[in-house]
Amino acid sequence: MVTETSNVILPEPPAELKRISENLVAAIRTKIAASGPIPFSEYMEMALYEPGLGYYSAGLQKFGPAGDFVTAPMLGDVFARCLAKQIEQIANELGRYEIVEVGAGNGNLAADLLKALAEYHAPLNYRILERSAHLRQVQRETLEREVPQWLDKVSWIDEPPATSWQGVFIANEVLDALTVERFCCTSEGIRQLCVADGPDGFTWQQAACPESLHQKIEATLSGLDGTLAEGYRSEVNTSLPAWLQAVTGSLQKGLALFIDYGYPRHEYYLPQRRNGTLICHYRHRAHDDPFMYPGLTDISTSVDFTALAEAADSCGLEVNGYTSQTMFLLGCGLEEVINGFQLLPEKDRISKNIEVRKLTLPGEMGERFQVMALGRGLPEHLSEQFRGFTLTDLRYRL
Ligand SMILES: C[S@@+](CC[C@H](N)C(=O)[O-])C[C@H]1O[C@@H](n2cnc3c(N)ncnc32)[C@H](O)[C@@H]1O
Repeated sequence: MVTETSNVILPEPPAELKRISENLVAAIRTKIAASGPIPFSEYMEMALYEPGLGYYSAGLQKFGPAGDFVTAPMLGDVFARCLAKQIEQIANELGRYEIVEVGAGNGNLAADLLKALAEYHAPLNYRILERSAHLRQVQRETLEREVPQWLDKVSWIDEPPATSWQGVFIANEVLDALTVERFCCTSEGIRQLCVADGPDGFTWQQAACPESLHQKIEATLSGLDGTLAEGYRSEVNTSLPAWLQAVTGSLQKGLALFIDYGYPRHEYYLPQRRNGTLICHYRHRAHDDPFMYPGLTDISTSVDFTALAEAADSCGLEVNGYTSQTMFLLGCGLEEVINGFQLLPEKDRISKNIEVRKLTLPGEMGERFQVMALGRGLPEHLSEQFRGFTLTDLRYRL
């Protein structure tokens, strides 16, 4: 059986999963019944993180062929091998260093990085800041299986490190999962898009923008070319500066690397992008209806990298690099990594080839995924020479 949404046909989930979604819907309904329509950020927070029911909190298969989507570290170890070369450069400068990874997914990146870095310059420890209890367990199992010899280096933390540390902070596809507010341009000005409960399920409802949100949107859109037409919808992440300060505040010396799909601001809010960047994934189908099977569906938005650079500025981090994923991987030494596959059996070489194509082709992850490096306390000779950013510098586009 299949279910049709405005733009895609989704397979019907099995009964036990439908029940999870129905329980989550009931919890969201209760909230709306108590307070009236809720901001989209609150809906997204519950849909992704409601204990036991949200997409990242419930113990569902999310990743890989049987899940909803695949990320770069899940394709194989090429991404991690390249990233390791960037980390090695910083490690050589720092000597003793740590790694903090936020939102570690199934733990592949942590395992492959620990393997690759053992060949160069191993970190003192590897801390994982992960919201989802279920994913912590998945990550532990991956690490136990893949790198039992390095397991004593790994720990899971509930809060960002409280005391000063030096090293590398990594966030791959995490910014896209942070909650956002949605807004709409109308003849009366900018309105907030809230979530209401209707006879046929959740619906969008326009509401007056709270003053702080209005100011944030005005500041974001000011300076962009062209006017946004009536009916134009998009998103803004109001919590990014506070989140960035929280997760990187204690990084005394080192580099924070953010890899995600997104754009510089003038592309993010292009007049043609009339429905914003909100995207939902369910069983490898992408659609734009976050009210379909809440709890079973991933909800994310693209990253406004200009907003990340502004947030960095307010946190005392320097924007040391911004480039596409392809150029980052090539700068880190992708060709060298590929050369290392020459001795593999043909079958493995073919699958590595496919992996590299997925990571780098413009129509796959190569262009849509971008990498930003935010540094603190590093010497100038290094901060303008990070390996991954030597081939193309896109900072002028921010
Ligand atoms: C799209 S997955 C990416 C997983 C992994 N980084 C990868 O590339 O495969 C998003 C991850 O971020 C986690 N997450 C989202 N928001 C978070 C937050 N505020 N703090 C810590 N983890 C978060 C989710 O639980 C999940 O592990």
